[in-house]
Amino acid sequence: MTTNNQSENGLSFPLEDLPKKTNPYLRLNTICPYYTMFPLNFPFDVLKDAKLGDRILDPFCGRGTSNFAARLRGLSSVGLDASPIAWAVALAKFTNISPEEIVALCHRILVSNDEPEHVPEGDFWELCYHPSTLIQICKLRETFLNECDTEAAIALRALTLGILHGPRNKTIDSYLSNQMPRTYASKPNYSVKYWKEHGLLPKKIDLLDVVKRRAYYSLASLPPSVDGGVLKVDSREQIQNYSLGEFDWVITSPPYYNMNTYIPDQWIRNWFLGGEERVEYTSSEQLSHSTTNKFSYELAKVWKNVADVCNPNANLIIRFGSLPSSPYNPSELLQDSLEKAECGWEIKNIKSAGTSANGYRQSEQFKKNLGTATEEIDLHAVLR
Ligand SMILES: C[S@@+](CC[C@H](N)C(=O)[O-])C[C@H]1O[C@@H](n2cnc3c(N)ncnc32)[C@H](O)[C@@H]1O
Repeated sequence: MTTNNQSENGLSFPLEDLPKKTNPYLRLNTICPYYTMFPLNFPFDVLKDAKLGDRILDPFCGRGTSNFAARLRGLSSVGLDASPIAWAVALAKFTNISPEEIVALCHRILVSNDEPEHVPEGDFWELCYHPSTLIQICKLRETFLNECDTEAAIALRALTLGILHGPRNKTIDSYLSNQMPRTYASKPNYSVKYWKEHGLLPKKIDLLDVVKRRAYYSLASLPPSVDGGVLKVDSREQIQNYSLGEFDWVITSPPYYNMNTYIPDQWIRNWFLGGEERVEYTSSEQLSHSTTNKFSYELAKVWKNVADVCNPNANLIIRFGSLPSSPYNPSELLQDSLEKAECGWEIKNIKSAGTSANGYRQSEQFKKNLGTATEEIDLHAVLR
């Protein structure tokens, strides 16, 4: 990509290139689907007002959409998330590696004579993956659990997370599993029943083939690298302990109240990253959803923490809403949490971001709870 096409605010990316979904620079952002991600143009549009050298923080970074938008703007950023899946996917948004190197690494791992030490057994695993595909998956899994610190390994791990499960395709294999949704993993009992009822057996799929296709699609063309990184941390913890430096923008979308299934709904990806080979239902690092008041206090801790690592006049932009199954007023809850934070975030404006039916919003993606579409809001505050 050429960088001599300076936009008005001095940033190097030609803005008009972004919104087209087909733009190959944007494909790295879709390396692995993530539940409740926000659309890329949301953080990208916010950052049109950023200055060269500004630093961006997202304390609930998910798949790293804010980080990728910052990269497109040539800005350094840091993402924080308590989910290992979010961490592994967001980390890949910083990589600058060719498809050839990823394919070569995958090939090296698969042809090694080391058999995986452990391959999960039982009805679910037998029906989800063909035995030879499962061995390939386990080889990659154990390699990465042992070591995953090169850019090629980080990108290959995220790419593999993205192909672990998804719909069966009659012509080209795009996913490694028997029939399953792409965005979340269905629960073992439900899946086994479904596959048996529909007579669906897992197809023998060559992992390297799928990786090759995906790598050439997602990484053939990348935006220039920027500084930054992603930490797997609980943002309620004091994040100033991590020496992250100072930030000028916080762009984020916390879980909506009662959206607490990030790990259980991603249980196969969680297993691939070292979790149990069954659904893990509790994670003490995720925000607590016991009551809206407790939830508001927990958000307040995060707003206080991020204020501690922000420069004066930093901007805080929050997209927030509610699930149709647990309606509440998102604007009131968010204002309440900022008041509780007592740390100088002054609200400049709160505007509608449309209803969940208008785009890829948290409530829309939470298919199981679809009901009346709920309105989402964007709140802008400045640190005084
Ligand atoms: C709405 S999602 C963020 C999606 C993100 N904007 C994207 O585009 O992918 C909210 C995220 O908050 C994370 N989360 C929940 N509790 C957390 C905590 N205590 N600390 C850090 N992250 C947390 C979840 O794991 C989830 O990834």
